[in-house]
Amino acid sequence: MNDEDLIVVGTGIRTVGQLTMEALSWIKKADKVLYVVSDPIAEELIKKLNPNGAESLYTLYAENKPRLQTYNEMIEKTLSYVRQARTVCMAAYGHPGVFAYPGHESIRRARAEGYKARMLPGVSAEDCLFADLNIDPAMAGCQSYEATDFLINGRIIDPSSHVILWQIGVLGDATYKRYGYEIKGLPQLLQKLYSFYNPAHMVYIYEAPIFPGVEPVVRPTPLYMLPYAGASAITTLYIPPATPPRTDIALTQALGLFSS
Ligand SMILES: C[S@@+](CC[C@H](N)C(=O)[O-])C[C@H]1O[C@@H](n2cnc3c(N)ncnc32)[C@H](O)[C@@H]1O
Repeated sequence: MNDEDLIVVGTGIRTVGQLTMEALSWIKKADKVLYVVSDPIAEELIKKLNPNGAESLYTLYAENKPRLQTYNEMIEKTLSYVRQARTVCMAAYGHPGVFAYPGHESIRRARAEGYKARMLPGVSAEDCLFADLNIDPAMAGCQSYEATDFLINGRIIDPSSHVILWQIGVLGDATYKRYGYEIKGLPQLLQKLYSFYNPAHMVYIYEAPIFPGVEPVVRPTPLYMLPYAGASAITTLYIPPATPPRTDIALTQALGLFSS
């Protein structure tokens, strides 16, 4: 293992089986481990691996507090330890750089201040979705958007592709809610999706299990019933392709891609 001032690791969605040996070694070796994990197994393991250095960043969340403010505080805290010339490990659930801002920004700032900083990949919710829903993004391609970003920033869907919408359960809310979100913006999201899909098109509520031996939640629902499908803060929405691709026949022939 090379020396780093800051190493950002993921604990996977399901720590048992998805925490890599490399991430585990860094958690053990670091002087300080700052963690944001969603399951008690990950928390217990981190505390056991590094009893003197483990500190939860979860305590920075507060009811109705803007999540961006919490993320900035996480980054500040991380940098404050890096500046004390200690090896700092930031551990986040899933992949620490997938739909997760603090890890990337901490690395950017640490490097800007002259420190060595690096991220290790982890197993994300999307990786689990590909496995549990038996989907290969090579077939039809895959578009992956944060749900609120998709809604407000004019993102475009190709309905012949797989589509994944993250954070559907916190749509339209930039704050933290401990006991569940009142999802705002669903009527507007449906309106936008109807410009690409039939309201009866089947979509899937997906939640990967965080404990071993537990089945994933895979709940099919017609698009128009999405408001009643019970999306939570850990839900990811999967929309299967609705149309065939618009194949460029001339180009396909020119490239000799038609099999005889
Ligand atoms: C802030 S992002 C964190 C993603 C995480 N870094 C990862 O690698 O998967 C939170 C979103 O990830 C997705 N997510 C997190 N846990 C999940 C789970 N157990 N099953 C399905 N999606 C999940 C949901 O879309 C959720 O709103």
